Amino acid sequence: MVPVDIKKLTPALAEEYIHFFDTTPHDTGKDEHKCYCVTWRSDDSYEEAHWFSSREERKEHALKYVKNGSIQGYLAYHDDTVVGWCNANANCRHCIHYLQSFFPIEEPDENIKIQSIFCFVIAPDMQRKGIATQLVERVCKDAADDGFDFVEAYVNKNFTDTASDFRGPMELYKKCGFSVFAEQDDRAVMRKSLK
Ligand SMILES: CC(C)(COP(=O)(O)OP(=O)(O)OC[C@H]1O[C@@H](n2cnc3c(N)ncnc32)[C@H](O)[C@@H]1OP(=O)(O)O)[C@@H](O)C(=O)NCCC(=O)NCCS
Repeated sequence: MVPVDIKKLTPALAEEYIHFFDTTPHDTGKDEHKCYCVTWRSDDSYEEAHWFSSREERKEHALKYVKNGSIQGYLAYHDDTVVGWCNANANCRHCIHYLQSFFPIEEPDENIKIQSIFCFVIAPDMQRKGIATQLVERVCKDAADDGFDFVEAYVNKNFTDTASDFRGPMELYKKCGFSVFAEQDDRAVMRKSLK
């Protein structure tokens, strides 16, 4: 395990966030696939557009969405350099509705407060050193402090490869105290109860 400092993403960290995506290879190895994690963002930002087809558009919009708080999550730092990102957002019903096509996710219930983990990017040379684990632990700690009932994640039941398991491997969540909440074909919803 390589210990990392974890910072909650804030508008002030927008340039560091963009720099991480600029300089970190995606696991697909293709620069034009860089996502800037722009897919998973707060509901009000979808009025403008759902998806941006070019890398430059994604970068430009990600900068805006970090600055206005629509992209939420955590950055992991090692030696003052960003080495990992976890997108976690509780205000993303649009994302949940999209994912319901693939995962057996319950309809949102205003009486149950759920923090969702949508995505990771861990720098390739820093993978398998416990960084995603530390990010999940921080998401859970903050969610508990903020009065959430559950943290939820959407995973493949069988590990395929680091690119396909960008939502985090099932084993990672099991190690962090999550259990299977619902299953459908080769996918599962994992939950950790915070109360
Ligand atoms: C999948 C991913 C999030 C894992 O992050 P990580 O920091 O390497 O994970 P951890 O070191 O915390 O691993 C926790 C557990 O998950 C499982 N795991 C993680 N990587 C694994 C791998 N490559 N093979 C098998 N199991 C793996 C293991 O059970 C591991 O525990 P162990 O090392 O004690 O056996 C990381 O590989 C990643 O970011 N991949 C790229 C995702 C991507 O392409 N994102 C862009 C999407 S558009």
